[in-house]
Amino acid sequence: MHLTLRQLKVFETVARHLNYTRASQELHLTQPAVSMQVKLLEGSLGAPLFEQLGKRIHLTEAGQEVLGYARSITQQLDELEGVLNRLKGLGGGRLRISVASTANYFIPTLLGSFSRNFPDVTVSLDVTNRETLLRQLGENTVDLVIMGQPPTEADVEAMPFLDNPLVVVAPPDHTLARQKHISLARLQEETFLVRESGSGTRIAMERFFNERGMRLKTGMEVGSNEAIKQSVQAGLGLGLLSHATIEQELSLKRLVVLDVEDFPIMRHWYIVHRRGKRLSPTAEAFKEFLLKDAMALLRAQGGAQLRASRLKRR
Ligand code: PGA
Repeated sequence: MHLTLRQLKVFETVARHLNYTRASQELHLTQPAVSMQVKLLEGSLGAPLFEQLGKRIHLTEAGQEVLGYARSITQQLDELEGVLNRLKGLGGGRLRISVASTANYFIPTLLGSFSRNFPDVTVSLDVTNRETLLRQLGENTVDLVIMGQPPTEADVEAMPFLDNPLVVVAPPDHTLARQKHISLARLQEETFLVRESGSGTRIAMERFFNERGMRLKTGMEVGSNEAIKQSVQAGLGLGLLSHATIEQELSLKRLVVLDVEDFPIMRHWYIVHRRGKRLSPTAEAFKEFLLKDAMALLRAQGGAQLRASRLKRR
């Protein structure tokens, strides 16, 4: 087989986009140059990797196999780069992390602090939904994933490093805003705005109420924490959100946390990677940092986790 790493990279990019134009833009190549690299790869492997169905291209079965290998070869090369950097005594390296959208409310603070200690590390941060996080774990395309709901079935390691309480939020003028010890049953009279299906927050919410044999009245399905907060403020319903997302609204008194029986729903944030993954020294350092320092750091900042830890655990 006379294939080159370059061909694998070009192939991986086309396979990710399933679109030659977008792949060539990402690679800064012309479209014919991209097609040529794919053709050469197909030639040396002796199998077509894409097929055209209508206007769209699809991976053939061989293409899917090659994609898996192309990704793990790229990942191994990155790991090798990290190991060599360490041997050369360089503190640099690349850290590729992907986080659930809700984690984006505290991850920049943590990255800021980490980067001060490791100024030569280049960080690439992807903020995305749970489905993409699971795919990235499966494809081994990131060093570490931060999520609130690690997969149980997949072959992954998940380490909790931070509390993630979920609370019920309302506008300050809501009738329940000043009530103490609101019963769960009372919530059934309210309409809830829910996150999109697949969101970790939504899964936790549904599990909590299902376990108690309860059904909530749900109104709009809203695709982001920000939009839920806006909608709750506009009086469209109550929301159930991670405490980390509402710091600002609480201090500006735009939202209040309701005092509901059995709340907050206590969850955690996890560092997740594939089982047995050989982490680069940089990823290892970031993982250590999260496990050792994240909680204390956010507390010292008076951030979400401090107030969260003051919330009564019942
Ligand atoms: P999400 O947050 O709701 O943005 O997916 C992750 C989680 O809480 O599991």
